[in-house]
This record gives sequence, structure tokens and C-alpha cells, in this order.
Amino acid sequence: MPKCLVVYCSRTGNTEQVARALADRLGADLEPIREARSRKGIWHYFRSAREALAGKRAKIEPARYDPAAYDIVLLGSPVWASHPSTPVSTYLAANREKLKAVACFVTLGGSGAEKTMARMEEAAGKKALAKFSATERELKSGKWMEGLDRFADQIARHVGS
Ligand SMILES: Cc1cc2nc3c(=O)[nH]c(=O)nc-3n(C[C@H](O)[C@H](O)[C@H](O)COP(=O)(O)O)c2cc1C
Repeated sequence: MPKCLVVYCSRTGNTEQVARALADRLGADLEPIREARSRKGIWHYFRSAREALAGKRAKIEPARYDPAAYDIVLLGSPVWASHPSTPVSTYLAANREKLKAVACFVTLGGSGAEKTMARMEEAAGKKALAKFSATERELKSGKWMEGLDRFADQIARHVGS
């Protein structure tokens, strides 16, 4: 049985890049949270920020994997106005009882990582075993890889324990 599940939402590909690298390293299953409605473009940018601030729920498609079947679920979100993205908040509200252990990762422009991951922990109902964040600049320069290795090692130790 697979032990790690990586669940993420990504509007423009940054969080997806981290999610894929993690799944690759850990041999984890990958669960993109999908919505029927697009968030591309400037109008949807502002809608997304408003919704995240208001704590609104998104209409997300049914998940492929059951998080209850995994030892640890890695939750990945872009930072939206210092909040988790609404698809991630919606997933957590629906699945928090099924999560045995969690780790959090976010991508961002530059500020709000700690607040966002604290809110993800709150929504998950448990402390994260490990946390990781990468800014757009770090992603472009490749500087995020070292932090990612440390984060993946912490998860691997937990799963191996
Ligand atoms: C609605 C919205 C709000 C955002 N708010 C923040 C913010 O508060 N702080 C920040 O550093 N970046 C913010 N960003 C930038 C994203 O967090 C960043 O571009 C992230 O890497 C996008 O991930 P993605 O490509 O997986 O969607 C925001 C982006 C969007 C769309």
C-alpha cells in the first residue's frame, strides 16, 4: 500500500512543480485538486483573493484517492492573500477526519507562508510534521531544491518509522 499522498492545488504551475518533485522523490501518489470553473486571468485573480479572505468554499471535483489510506498526506497550496487557496481549504474541510498525519508546503510571491501554513494546520486539525515554502524567485533560480531535500527527508523518516 502506498504510504504518502501529495494533494495540491495550483493555478499557474508553481505549486504543481513542487508537488511533482515531492511525489517523485517519495514515490507518493499525486492528487491535483481540480475545479470545473477556471481561475485564469485578472478577474479570477481578484475573485480568488476575495474568496480566500472570506473563507469561501470552492466547487472541487471528487478526489481520486482516499486520504484515510495513507500514513501521511502532504498538502500543497499557493499563498492567496496570506491564506490557503480555497480549493485546498475545501478539500481539508471535507477530509480532515481522514488525515492520520500531515505536512504542508506552499509557494508564494514573497510574504505570508507561515500564516498560510498555520491556517492549513488549523483546517487539517493537526500540526504539520514538516513544512516547506518556496518563493517564485527561488523556484526560478533553482534555490528551492535544498529545502525540498530536507523536507522530503523529514517525511521519509516519518514514513519509515
Ligand atoms: C489570488 C492570489 C493571491 C495571492 N496572494 C499572495 C500573498 O498574499 N503573498 C504572496 O507572497 N504571494 C501571493 N500570491 C502569489 C502566489 O502565491 C504565487 O504566485 C504562487 O507561487 C502561485 O502558485 P501556483 O502557480 O501554484 O498557482 C497570490 C496569488 C494569487 C493568485
